[in-house]
Amino acid sequence: MRIVTVILVLLFKFVSIIPLQHVEGNIGHYDDHWKNREQTAKANAAKAYNTDPHGVTNNLNNQVQKDLLQKSNNVDRSWRGRGLRKYNGPCLAANPIDRCWRCDENWSKKREKLADCVLGFGHKTSGGKKGRIYEVVDDSDNDLLNPKPGTLRHAVIQDGPVWITFKHGMVIKLKEELLVSSNKTIDGRGGHVHIAGGAGIMLQYVDNVIIHNVHIHDIKRASGGLIRDSMTHYGFRTASDGDGISIFGSTNIWIDHVSMSNCMDGLIDAIEASTAITISNCHFTDHNDVMLFGASDSSSQDEIMQVTLAFNHFGKRLIQRMPRCRFGFFHVLNNDYTHWEMYAIGGSQHPTIISQGNRFIAPPNIFAKEVTKREYAPYSVWKNWLWTSDDDVMLNGAFFNESGDKTKKFSYTRQDMIKFKPGSYVKRLTRFAGALNCKEDKPC
Ligand SMILES: *[C@@H]1O[C@H](CO)[C@@H](O)[C@H](O)[C@H]1NC(C)=O
Ligand SMILES: *[C@@H]1O[C@H](CO)[C@@H](O)[C@H](O)[C@H]1NC(C)=O
Ligand SMILES: *[C@@H]1O[C@H](CO)[C@@H](O)[C@H](O)[C@H]1NC(C)=O
Repeated sequence: MRIVTVILVLLFKFVSIIPLQHVEGNIGHYDDHWKNREQTAKANAAKAYNTDPHGVTNNLNNQVQKDLLQKSNNVDRSWRGRGLRKYNGPCLAANPIDRCWRCDENWSKKREKLADCVLGFGHKTSGGKKGRIYEVVDDSDNDLLNPKPGTLRHAVIQDGPVWITFKHGMVIKLKEELLVSSNKTIDGRGGHVHIAGGAGIMLQYVDNVIIHNVHIHDIKRASGGLIRDSMTHYGFRTASDGDGISIFGSTNIWIDHVSMSNCMDGLIDAIEASTAITISNCHFTDHNDVMLFGASDSSSQDEIMQVTLAFNHFGKRLIQRMPRCRFGFFHVLNNDYTHWEMYAIGGSQHPTIISQGNRFIAPPNIFAKEVTKREYAPYSVWKNWLWTSDDDVMLNGAFFNESGDKTKKFSYTRQDMIKFKPGSYVKRLTRFAGALNCKEDKPC
């Protein structure tokens, strides 16, 4: 009897020291390689964390303001659908991120210029800048241990900074999750690049990644197995969830002009103390749980999370979580929310959510007019969470239930925070959201 107890206690102890969260991160064998990567990632996150978040939001606000002042004030107030016809006119870069590169006819000769264009919390992301160009020529994904040269999987495990381009349009069906290493840009400009029908993209304990101008859709779970994650290491992975892009313990991430739809889990999840993230100019459709920032109510390490969502279009057949936040600081500005079925922005565990100049068009369902949703907390608790709405356009009965200490907010705005134009400009600012059809040697 005694011996049995001792064995049970030992077993329990052994089981309890296996770090469960790593298993959730699909790392089957948590070896020295992953331990080192986790430590480096934590140090990077601490470095990237901005203790003065409003300094960064001000910077982006100034840019939007500058941009709008230079334009005629052709404000579109119609809202029944986006009502956008196919645009055939001269290059029209409507927002400050796009203005930085899109109308330059020579964009394809200086692709790295893109890395200078990111604003918001991810503004230090340079991706594969100053690295070599790696052109993907092969859409296959057959060898996970020794990826074939010319494939995307071979490109993303290379050492050092790499700027990854595609020889032509292609559909890449990933056999298992794509483990992207640090200092990479995946640049799909110039071709219709789809990552679809297979596993998704995993950014795990990495720093400095840009994902640009690709379509990511119909991502499925995959069973795991031995997968190479760098030139010098491979390891056993458990099953992946079927997220489009999973950001796990990673910093300095910029996702721009990506079209995403219909994945088995989230479209974009950021968890495990990821920070310094900008998601901009993306187009999302056909999905239930769109974005999850912070996976667990007990994961207070996500206090460090700082995310900017700007100029995105949350479109047809979306249901909820755009995003759903925990703990961190979320700046949600100039996005077009044309569809949701349950709610748009939600969360638990006192996240800070600054919503500015968005357009929210509520669905017909009279029980789903509220933009916001708090979970697992009574009003007496969440009334202290800072969730604010400035210059948002509310249509079709949409409403945002604000909370938190307004004086705190005002003390932020005093720090040189120029108010940008209201949400009535959003349709123009987000007109080209999603993957673009760029042609080389022409403005995009
Ligand atoms: C693009 O490159 C061509 C050839 O180098 C040059 O003649 C042209 O002026 C460039 N255009 C711009 C807008 O810089
Ligand atoms: C990424 O680039 C930075 C800056 O050059 C460098 O310090 C860092 O070690 C690189 N990371 C990896 C994993 O190569
Ligand atoms: C916000 O929610 C609280 C609690 O449900 C409610 O009392 C209050 O009236 C709501 N405010 C708005 C503006 O809807």
